[in-house]
Formats: sequence, structure tokens, C-alpha cells
Amino acid sequence: MRYTTAGESHGPELVVIVSDVPAGIELDRATIDHDLARRQQGYGRGGRMAIETDRALVVAGVRFGRTLGSPVAMRIVNRDAANWSEVMDPWGSGDGVEAVTAPRPGHADLGGVQRTGAADVRDILERASARETAARVAAGTVARALLAALGVSVRSWVERIGPAATGALGPEEADPAAVATSDVSCPDADVAAEMRSAIDNARQQGESLGGVFAVCVEGLVPGVGGYAEQGQRLDSRLASAVMSIPAIKGVEFGLGFAAAARTGSAVHDEIVLGESGRLRRATNRSGGIDGGMTTGEPVVLRAAMKPIPTLMRPLRTVDISTGEVADAARERSDVCAVPAAAVVAEAEVALVLADAYQGLLGGACLHDMRTALAAYRERIAW
Ligand SMILES: Cc1cc2nc3c(=O)[nH]c(=O)nc-3n(C[C@H](O)[C@H](O)[C@H](O)COP(=O)(O)O)c2cc1C
Repeated sequence: MRYTTAGESHGPELVVIVSDVPAGIELDRATIDHDLARRQQGYGRGGRMAIETDRALVVAGVRFGRTLGSPVAMRIVNRDAANWSEVMDPWGSGDGVEAVTAPRPGHADLGGVQRTGAADVRDILERASARETAARVAAGTVARALLAALGVSVRSWVERIGPAATGALGPEEADPAAVATSDVSCPDADVAAEMRSAIDNARQQGESLGGVFAVCVEGLVPGVGGYAEQGQRLDSRLASAVMSIPAIKGVEFGLGFAAAARTGSAVHDEIVLGESGRLRRATNRSGGIDGGMTTGEPVVLRAAMKPIPTLMRPLRTVDISTGEVADAARERSDVCAVPAAAVVAEAEVALVLADAYQGLLGGACLHDMRTALAAYRERIAW
């Protein structure tokens, strides 16, 4: 399963096509829109998200609520586009439309104009904007529905926003109900309050914040992924997918970087016979992946997000039309989008795992995948 997106931030709509989708997956319109809404929420978002109420319009690949086995295509209207029709007109002359010429440090603006030769940073920022991640979340709902039918669930929580942090939480410490009702997606109410006040302070100072979130996948069978090559090893694939989200600067699994400071016996998870008679790991310091494959324990990855680059108290830049020192451009912007990035990461993780399950079980139809999964579980014996 893979996806491709098109769409500018202030263009008429976003489009996503999900390919290699097995037939027979039940999709639910409300669930798709619920995930889109989760991406739009979170304390610290800017005015744009108050304008958009994302809805996915399914235009291909689904009939009577089930996937057909053909590509699934979805459209998400940018309601804000009504205010930008002249600026984003595909056929107009552009006369009278002011160009953006002060590239923002930390954004794609400068590299983009250098790469493409554009004289207007808007040609870059419209597509580099994380508005595109709404389309990814829509794609992810197809993967999540497939995984759910195979007993696999994906969730996330936020562990750090700027200086406010919980420390690394295990899946059992991150109560999904507490995460769902927190506007910073943090299961610890005291730390959540600190996160909100850190965001308030940043906003007052014209600053922005990043943070750390965790994504957790449960219900996995062992052996998903592969033990050689970049495109097969599951940790490599997941890290690549999560790093593709704008502003993500680091990904770790389980102990992650902390493992480098420990001895081997304080890192590796002993193999034991579980109560169910199946082999388990006594601990899950690896974050559920050994040798590029799932161990059967929950996959737990963490990602670090850098602070939002658009600052209301802008950094110095150089105007590309004059060569003069300038203040970086100010677009309407989030102060912090860590909770939203976590929702996007859930989608990316689900898409990789859905594809990896197809690699293990075949991918034409859900019924056959279920049959193959039962046979796989049976063969593993323990
Ligand atoms: C959900 C989400 C929302 C974001 N919102 C904004 C925003 O409002 N303003 C902004 O400047 N950057 C925002 N960003 C971050 C930029 O997209 C990102 O910093 C930029 O693409 C450069 O990051 P990169 O160096 O990792 O590509 C957001 C990122 C995500 C994941």
C-alpha cells in the first residue's frame, strides 16, 4: 500500500490516491473525518485550523463502504481557498499579486527557490506547507482499517512540548482516554498544564515550540518486516516514513539513543515462554523490533519535532528580490503542532505496517490476508 498526494495549501483542494489496496476493507466515513479532525486540533494551532473543517470526499476505489481493490482516491477541500482565489489562480496573469521574497529560516523557502528558480517563495511554500499532511492522514485511514481487521491498532501520545515533559512513557502508562481528552495529547494532566503554559509563553514572545511524541502499535505478530536491505527492515521503513513529516528531526525505537550508554544485558530483551505458551520478550526495550522485524511486542517509536519556523518575531533573512537584509516572511501560523504531527505519524506508521503485512500475507483481498494470518499464527506454534 502506498500513496501520492497533490495540492497547494491555499489551492482549491488536496488530493490523495492510495494504491495497492486490498479488496474488502470496510471503511467508515465518520472515522476518516474523525482522524482528519484530530489532525486539526491541539493547543497552539493557528487561525487557519479554525477555518478548515476537513472532510474527505471519496471519489474512487470504494463501493458500499468497502474497498474494491482499485486505487482509493480522496479529495479534501481547502475552505480557506475562497480567500486566495486571485493569489492561487491557475490561469490568471498574476499581475498585482504581491510576491513573497523573504525566505523563512528553517523552512523549505530558500532551498525551494534555489532549486526551482522561482522568484516568488509562494511557489514553494504552498506545497511545502504541512497542510499536505491532511491528505496523508486521509490515506492512513485506509491502512488503519486494514490493520484493524487484522487485529492491529495504532495510537500516539505527546511526551514533550518545549521544556514541559513527562519522560518516556510505556504503553500502559499512556491511557488512551486521557490522551483523547487532552488538548495537548498528553496523558499526564499536570504536565499537560505545563505544556499549555509553555505554549502561551511562546505565543506571547512571538516564539514557537517543538516537542516529542510516541507512536505505539499493538496486536502485531512477530516477523513483520525483513532482516536485510533498506526497503525491507521495518525500523528503517518506519523511520523514513516518520522523518518524511515536515519538522521531524529524529526518530528512535524503544530505548533509542539511551541504549548506546548501556551494557548489552541492560538493553536486549530476554526471550521467555509466555503464559499463553507463546514466546515473548521479558522486557520491551527494543521498542518491538529486533533485526528489522516485529518481535510481537508493541512497536514503540518516538519522534522529535523542531519548533515551527514561522515566527511572529521573525528571524533575519535576505530578500531574494533585492539582496537586502529583511525580516522573514510571516504567514498565519501555528505556535506548536506537536499533537497534530503525532496524528500524521500514526498515519505514516499505519501505511508502512499495512504494506509490510501485505508483504507477509499477500495483498489482493482482506479475506485471503485473514486466512493467511491464521495459518501464520498456527505455524509459529509458540
Ligand atoms: C501538523 C504540522 C503543522 C505545521 N504547521 C506549521 C505552521 O503553521 N507554520 C510553519 O511555519 N510550519 C509548520 N509546520 C512545520 C513546517 O511544515 C516545517 O517546519 C517545514 O516544512 C520545514 O521542516 P523540515 O526542515 O523538516 O522540512 C507544521 C508541521 C506539521 C507536521
